[in-house]
This record gives sequence, C-alpha cells and structure tokens, in this order.
Amino acid sequence: MRIAVVGAGTIGLAWAALFAAYGNDVTVTDPRDDLDAAVDEALPMLAAGLPGNDAADLRSRIRTTHDLAEAVAGVQLVQENGPEKLEFKRQLFADIARHAPDDALLATSSSGIVATLIAEPLPDLVAARLLVAHPFNPPHIVPLVEIVPGERTAETTVEAAMALYAALGKTPVRLHKELPGFAANRLQSAVLQEAIHLVLSGVVDAGELDTLMKASLGGRYAVVGPFESFHLGGGPGGVRHMMEHLGPGLAEGWQRLGHPELDGDAVATVVGQTEAAYGSGPEAYRQRAALRDRKQLALNAALRQADHV
Ligand SMILES: NC(=O)c1ccc[n+]([C@@H]2O[C@H](COP(=O)([O-])OP(=O)(O)OC[C@H]3O[C@@H](n4cnc5c(N)ncnc54)[C@H](O)[C@@H]3O)[C@@H](O)[C@H]2O)c1
Repeated sequence: MRIAVVGAGTIGLAWAALFAAYGNDVTVTDPRDDLDAAVDEALPMLAAGLPGNDAADLRSRIRTTHDLAEAVAGVQLVQENGPEKLEFKRQLFADIARHAPDDALLATSSSGIVATLIAEPLPDLVAARLLVAHPFNPPHIVPLVEIVPGERTAETTVEAAMALYAALGKTPVRLHKELPGFAANRLQSAVLQEAIHLVLSGVVDAGELDTLMKASLGGRYAVVGPFESFHLGGGPGGVRHMMEHLGPGLAEGWQRLGHPELDGDAVATVVGQTEAAYGSGPEAYRQRAALRDRKQLALNAALRQADHV
C-alpha cells in the first residue's frame, strides 16, 4: 500500500515508521527544513519498537518531500498529523483532497477535534472519506486507535479504516458518537485532574503519584479495564453486588474529587516536581522515552502470551 504521512512531528514520524515496518511505501511531507534529518534521527528509536528492529530497512521504504501534492498523489491512505488547530486542519484537508486520489482514505490523528468540524467546508465526496484515527502516544507501540467518523463519513470508510489499522497490528475501537476529546483522552483527562489535585494538595509528589499509579491502576487496567475490574471486584456476585454495596459511596466520592486551578503556582509545582523526578532536555527525553517503549513492548508481549495460554 502507498501511504502519505502529512506532518512529521512526534506522531507523524512514529506512524511513518509503523507503516514502513508493515511493508508499505511511505511518503512523509512537512514544511520543516530539517525533514530528512528528523526522519533519520527518529528512526533508530522507533525501529527498536517495531518488527524487524531495522532502521535502515524502514528508511528504504520512507521518502520525504516538502511538496504536499507530490506526497499524496497515488496513495490509498493519508494520515494527517499537523498542528492541532481547526482552521489549520480544514485548510490542510482541502489541499490534501485536491491532490489525493478520489478513493483515498483521509485520516486525521487529531487528539480532540471531531471530523464533522474538520470536514465542514469540504464537499460530500471528501467528507465521506474523512475520519479521525486517533492513536495513543507512542503510536507505533500503544495498540489503541480510536476510529471516530463524522456525520458525513461513509460507513464503508469506517469499515475500511477498522480493517486497515487492525492489519497494522493496532487495536481499533470505533466510537458511536463523536465528542471533543473522544473517549481515551477524556479518561486520561479525568485521571490527570485528580492526579494534579493530589499533588497540589501535598498528598503525594509527582514521582510518588506515578509510582502509586503504576503499582495499582496502571497495570490493572491493562489487564481488565474499569468495568471488568469492577465486576470481578464484586466476587461471584459481580457488578450487581458491587453496585448495591459500593454504588452509593461511589457517587458520593465523585463529589469529593478535586478541581485544581492551573494558575502560575500550580504549573510551577507540577513542572518542578516532574522535572525533579525525571530530568529535562533532549538527553533525558531520549532515555526516558526509550525506557517507556521497552516496558510498553514487554507489557504488550506478556499480555499477548497470556491471552494465548
Ligand atoms: N503528541 C501526542 O501525544 C499526540 C497523541 C495523539 C494524537 N496527537 C495529534 O497528532 C497531531 C500531531 O501532533 P504532534 O504531537 O506530532 O505535533 P508536533 O508539533 O510534534 O508536529 C506537528 C508537525 O506538523 C508540521 N506541519 C506544520 N504545518 C504543516 C503543513 N502545512 N503540512 C504538513 N505538516 C505541517 C510541523 O512542522 C510539525 O513537524 C495533532 O493533531 C495532535 O493532536 C498527538
């Protein structure tokens, strides 16, 4: 398959590596002056998380160009990863649609802008092929892709996207309604809200909160998810018992959750504690990101193995 990756930042570069690892011909386009250097620099770390582990092999299937029209000509899929701004994405997709084949699937990696809004100024035939395919960072390793069609997205486009991302080893989940932030980021946002509240209240510092999370909910939710966890927590009586037993207290607990203000002092506390725990700058980023990827890959492999015992 021929694929265009539009936007070569954190997300676009990881998609490009993943697409190439599955044998596709990838063209990456971005106006950035250092486009080739950015691809060359990112590939070794990305390759370490992909089948084959071979950066040179991936590079042989990735072309670069500053010319959007050239990048999208003749492709079956366009994966857009430009800045997260509605007007910007509208203009970008208008340009993409002018030059891409009439049957190409048009996907945006947007973290929160719905396809209906992006497609608003576009003709029906383009809107029918456009949807959100939102990865979780890092896209070449974390399995989820949220598939979120807009009001005018064709059902055939949704089905094609579900099949395409599954064939790339991803776990696509289709949302039945579009809403800002989709589903996974809304969950993440709820957790982050309470995490920041706990840190600002002095209950734990940022590093301690991360330890607490990784040693409890983090691993648990990779294994069972909130609803199955709740169901199993009720013993043989399951979720019915849990709802009778803990349901009223659960709803009361929601009233006590924090609503932190992100003012200057709050930001300084969060940034200071996080940088104190994990360092800052390019070298710290490379080290921590590589460790994160190794652990996530080990988790993916262990879960795959456990599923097949
Ligand atoms: N970073 C994340 O954790 C994450 C996760 C999932 C989805 N996303 C989404 O993915 C998209 C990209 O995010 P990112 O974090 O990679 O951003 P980023 O800032 O790292 O990269 C954006 C890239 O877009 C390029 N760009 C600017 N104008 C362009 C144009 N006209 N054509 C092509 N490229 C252009 C920039 O040069 C830059 O390289 C956003 O929509 C974001 O919401 C981000």
